[in-house]
Amino acid sequence: MKIRPRRLRLNSSIRDLISESSVSSNDLIYPIFLTNEQEGREEISSMPGQFRHSRKSLIESIKEWEKLGLKGVCLFPKIEEKNKNSTGSFSYSPKNYYLDRIKELKDKFPNLLLMSDVALDPYSCDGHDGIVDHKSGKILNDETLEVLSKMSIAQAKAGVDIIGPSDMMDGRVERIRTDLNGEGFQETLIMSYSAKYASNYYGPFRDALDSAPKFGDKKTYQMDMRNSREALKEATLDSIEGADILMVKPGIAYLDIVSALKQNFHQPVSVYQVSGEYAMIKLGAKEGFFDETQMMLENLIAFKRAGADIILSYFSIDALRLLND
Ligand code: PBG
Repeated sequence: MKIRPRRLRLNSSIRDLISESSVSSNDLIYPIFLTNEQEGREEISSMPGQFRHSRKSLIESIKEWEKLGLKGVCLFPKIEEKNKNSTGSFSYSPKNYYLDRIKELKDKFPNLLLMSDVALDPYSCDGHDGIVDHKSGKILNDETLEVLSKMSIAQAKAGVDIIGPSDMMDGRVERIRTDLNGEGFQETLIMSYSAKYASNYYGPFRDALDSAPKFGDKKTYQMDMRNSREALKEATLDSIEGADILMVKPGIAYLDIVSALKQNFHQPVSVYQVSGEYAMIKLGAKEGFFDETQMMLENLIAFKRAGADIILSYFSIDALRLLND
C-alpha cells in the first residue's frame, strides 16, 4: 500500500498538526437567564448547572467569566406574570428591569459584548413570539413588528451591542434596522435568528423562563424541520434586510443548514446549541453513558467543522475552563 490514511493518525502530535477545526474563546457566546431579584440564583431543574441570576449573582459571575476569556453573553429575562400582556408592552417599558441590567452591565463591563433577545414570548400572556388575534388564533405579523421595533430601540438605548431577533416574523430585520438607524443606532449589530426551526429541543428553555405557548405551537412562524431550501430563502431575506450575522437554531440536528449558510452567504454564521441539546448531554453523562467533557467537545467541534463562526452555548463556561487548563 502506498497510501495509508492511518499514518496521519499515528500519534496525537501528528493528529493535532493536521487537524482542520478547533474551538477557541473567540467563538463562544454564553446565553444566560435573568430574574428581577437583587440577590441569589436558582438552578433550572431541566438544565443542571444553569441558573436564573439575580442582579448581584450576575455581576459576580461575569467578573469570573471575563477572567476565563468570555467575549459575550446573550441575556434572557424571566418576566413576572403580572407584567405580561397580549402585546408584550412591558418589553419596552422604562420599568423593565432587563433594560436596567443591560445598562449596568455595559457600564461595569464595557468590553463584554451584550446580546439581547427580541421576541414577545417572555412578555406575552399567550406565550407566543408575536401578538395573537384571539378570535382566529393567528399570530399577527405586521402588528408584531411595531413591538419588536420598540423593544429593539429600548435595548439599543440601554446599551446592548447586538440585537437578537428570535421571533421569526416576516420583515423584522428590515423594520428593526430602519428604525435603529432612524434613532441614531447605526452601530448596533443585528444577529438574526435566520433559520430558526420549530423544535422539540427548546423544552427546557421554556421551562427556565416559564414562556411556553399557552395554546397551539409555533409552527406558523418557526421553520418546518423538513426543509432546508427555506433556510436559504430566510437567510437571503435577512441579508438583504441588513442582518450582520446569520444564525441557525437548534445546532446539532441542523448542521446541514449551518454548512449551507456558510457556503452561500458572506455574513458570519452563528449556531445556537439550545437547551434541549444541553440537557441531553448533561443527563446522559450523569447516567454514566458517556463522558460529559468529551461529548461537549465533540458537539462544539462539529459546529466549527460545519462552518460556524460563532457558537451560542450553555457549555461556554465549561469550555473556557477546559481551554484555560
Ligand atoms: C424565544 C426563544 C426560544 C429560545 C430562544 N429564544 C424558545 C422558543 O422559540 O420557543 C430557545 C433557546 C433554547 O432552547 O435554549 N423567542
